[in-house]
Amino acid sequence: MTLARRRFDTLIIGAGGGGLRAALQLAQADARVAVVSKVFPTRSHTVAAQGGVNAALANVLPDNWHWHMFDTVKGSDYLGDQDAIEYMCRAAPRVVYELEHFGVPFSRLESGRIYQRAFGGQSRDFGGEQAVRTCAAADRTGHAILHSLYQQNIRARTHFFDEYFAIDLVKDDEGYFLGALAVDIASGEPLLIEAKTTILATGGAGQLFRTNTNALINTGDGMAMALRAGIPLQDMEFFQFHPTGIAGKGMLITEGARGEGGYLVNADGERFMERYAPNARDLASRDVVSRAIATEVREGRGVGPNRDHVLLKLDHLGADIVRKRLPGIRDMALTFLHIDPAETPIPVYPTAHYTMGGIPTDRHGQVVVPVAQGAEEPVPGLYAVGECACVSVHGANRLGGNSLLDILVFGRAAANHVIAQLGEQRYHRQMPERAAEPALARLARWERPGQGESVGALRDELARVMEDHCGVFRNEDVLREGLDKVRTLRERLQRAGIDDHSRVFNTARMEALELENLMDIAVATVTSALARTESRGAHSRIDYPERDDQRWLRHSLYNGADGSMDYKPVRMKPLTVETFPPKPRTY
Ligand code: FUM
Repeated sequence: MTLARRRFDTLIIGAGGGGLRAALQLAQADARVAVVSKVFPTRSHTVAAQGGVNAALANVLPDNWHWHMFDTVKGSDYLGDQDAIEYMCRAAPRVVYELEHFGVPFSRLESGRIYQRAFGGQSRDFGGEQAVRTCAAADRTGHAILHSLYQQNIRARTHFFDEYFAIDLVKDDEGYFLGALAVDIASGEPLLIEAKTTILATGGAGQLFRTNTNALINTGDGMAMALRAGIPLQDMEFFQFHPTGIAGKGMLITEGARGEGGYLVNADGERFMERYAPNARDLASRDVVSRAIATEVREGRGVGPNRDHVLLKLDHLGADIVRKRLPGIRDMALTFLHIDPAETPIPVYPTAHYTMGGIPTDRHGQVVVPVAQGAEEPVPGLYAVGECACVSVHGANRLGGNSLLDILVFGRAAANHVIAQLGEQRYHRQMPERAAEPALARLARWERPGQGESVGALRDELARVMEDHCGVFRNEDVLREGLDKVRTLRERLQRAGIDDHSRVFNTARMEALELENLMDIAVATVTSALARTESRGAHSRIDYPERDDQRWLRHSLYNGADGSMDYKPVRMKPLTVETFPPKPRTY
């Protein structure tokens, strides 16, 4: 049977905010752009982003991009690349005003300007008083942004392959990326999409963990595709646990709740954050607050019959603020907990939220790989943006509100770089005869029903292992045991089967392919965490409690082929301003 083929200038895999922002820029420049998405685009995970997007607009209090940059560098525990961080923070106001023009219905201040709220780890004047920098559409900011970007893309005639699953990237013998093999989920038919450039925008891998804020689709597909294509993954040990997930369930209660004045209490009713972060308290950065909650619970000051969570108090804010500024989390608390947060505190505990590591890129979104003597070079034809990428603006700990910013700034930047490249590349490169064969073989592996362990049961087991062995606090023994377990699970998946009954609409096949991706990302995450013998940002080693800049102020690179680790320097030099040198990090 002949393989169906389509040709575009650019293929974008993933239809969240990063993919759609890039697609829009390209389509408006008259490029032929295709977006492949395994769900209908407006169901991409950006839709779930709640609290807002950071930009120093100074609508509420004085602000400027340089303070934002300082907070981001400090928040990253000095692992973020300062050139990329400067670029992002400087671009922030412009991308937010663009969104306003695309039709994003931001909440408004009395003055009519965009509403901004306080978020964690943000200051004025390089570490001074709390900043008010996070631009919000109530607590549904991602929803507003994603829908506006989708509508603008429809208008610009972006071509969408909805409910197509990308199996693997395709490249030629010279290592030039030529597109990807995808499968139409409903029919099971493969499709080879040829492109002069490919942009990965597939989001993170929150489904690694049992308790998480992520959509079921967040299975690290792009990162795993990159690994299989021979590209190392950067800084995978840094996984963000958001302090306030609904306890035991994981759903996100936005940091905006604390930004509006909510605070955390333990079983004694104590505002315990005063002990951990005397200045910023509940608005310290996320790694600090998550560790504080986990410590309160470990030391016996947790709430509830099992003393396994703390409480987020909002009742003092008044019903009007809760309904106006936090309607989404009110709905969620009513639906899942049968409580109104304007009256009753919400039980919360840290929940897996964001993959800080990913596919290494430069600030144009070009995927880069190490070459001789610490230098890097771009991988021809391949870009990555958003959570699947590591540019790196988040370093060891991302600030709330910087993920929506990241996808907008670097989605746009990557597209602009691609547009310039397209100007120089008139024709598609020749696709070698057998280039898609490895991807077709991967798809064929799950084509027929087979005997063996259940894929779903293995996925549950993986998520439990990751939670138990690679959580907020880590140590050598727990990580080592975790690595053995995830490697064994990955082997067991090779012998798993899908039964005929569960093959409806090919979903069981897709779940098996997703789990292969998750397994590879799990091994990358635990291997990287075991190797880094210091505590930095979200990576907190009980056996190595201090940050060690001498040895570890460097990015890690995990190689998929042999599971080895390499390292590369942090880009400490910003574009136009002075470096922020590493300092002890207090809030
Ligand atoms: O808390 C939140 O609303 C999440 C925001 C973010 O992760 O940037």
